[in-house]
Amino acid sequence: MRLGPFELSSNLFLSPLAGYTNLPMRLTVRELGGLAWATTDLVNARSLLERNPTALKLVASAPQDRPLAIQLFGSVPEEMRDAAVMCQEMGAESVDINMGCPVKKVVKIGGGSAMMTELDKTAALVRGMIAAVKIPVTAKMRLGWDDDNLTAPDLARVLEDTGVAAIFVHGRTRAQGFSGTVNLRGIRAVVEAVKSIPVIGNGDVTTPTAAKHMLEATGCAGVSIGRGAFYDPWIFRRTAHLLKTGELLPEPDFAERLRVLRRHFERYCEFYGEEHGARLFRKVAPWYAKRFGPSKPFKQRIITIRSRADFDAAVADYLSWRAQFCDEGGELLGKYAPAPLVASFMREPGDAEIYARESIPVPKGPVDVW
Ligand SMILES: Cc1cc2nc3c(=O)[nH]c(=O)nc-3n(C[C@H](O)[C@H](O)[C@H](O)COP(=O)(O)O)c2cc1C
Repeated sequence: MRLGPFELSSNLFLSPLAGYTNLPMRLTVRELGGLAWATTDLVNARSLLERNPTALKLVASAPQDRPLAIQLFGSVPEEMRDAAVMCQEMGAESVDINMGCPVKKVVKIGGGSAMMTELDKTAALVRGMIAAVKIPVTAKMRLGWDDDNLTAPDLARVLEDTGVAAIFVHGRTRAQGFSGTVNLRGIRAVVEAVKSIPVIGNGDVTTPTAAKHMLEATGCAGVSIGRGAFYDPWIFRRTAHLLKTGELLPEPDFAERLRVLRRHFERYCEFYGEEHGARLFRKVAPWYAKRFGPSKPFKQRIITIRSRADFDAAVADYLSWRAQFCDEGGELLGKYAPAPLVASFMREPGDAEIYARESIPVPKGPVDVW
């Protein structure tokens, strides 16, 4: 597929997950193959213009981290425009505008999903950004503010007229937060609303089969995966293969999971420094452990690490403990193997409840208090 002037290597995208989809994560996933395009975590346009060190860390990139979109949030047209120019100067392939975030900090300044409520104002802001840069500008939205205000199709149409290069749509409303299941018909309505720009569907895709189903059921041009990439960083490679050949590759074995876990950890240490990196990695490692089979002692231990030595010791002790559940080849005995992943919208009655939503902490409670 194409996005603006770019011919992409696949139609698979990594969704931004603030606090997770940093440079170490993006490099780790890209190296595994199949991923065409990644986006930074959301960055406050004003903080970027002020060269706030946290904002600059969020947009840090590397030659292998390409193509890359920087995602901005904000509601002041001049700031969004100037921040877009800054992204272009920093070498980003594209700028993405966050119109979907439901969190108070973002909505209260008129950014995120608040932008879905005022179409004219939003269109004017986007027009200003597009006029100021040569790189493509895209928008990421939800289906609307709530079930009574499903503005995504209208907004997508308006944005296409202003010149955005693509629309990313998470198939939930702001009011829904992260509850319920993605609404594939809602995504389809956005696909049908635009004339020619690609619409990329998003939400709850945790398996290659689910990605294929989303493409077929909605007609979207591409699929963007967030939390599913944490369950399975190989999901892009496996999905690209499925879409190309019809063959579903097996999930990687334990040795491969461990190899990639180590690489991901090392990148954290390099990027954030050893101690800070080790601390931050405490919330990443449990994701890998979800597909390890029995792993309770590992999960308890890994959230205490402060250094490379702590990490290595935690892994080594876990390997000795885990051996009791394995055959001579080091693979788990059948009864200990984790249940297969099933995306929420693909689940049949009776399927194991393994799509644990709370695994990546999402904001909880009534959306108005986030
Ligand atoms: C912890 C967390 C952080 C997120 N941060 C962002 C963000 O910075 N920008 C954004 O557009 N969406 C953000 N999202 C939404 C995701 O990009 C995505 O739309 C949503 O999680 C649904 O896709 P998934 O089921 O594949 O994760 C975030 C979601 C979560 C759970």
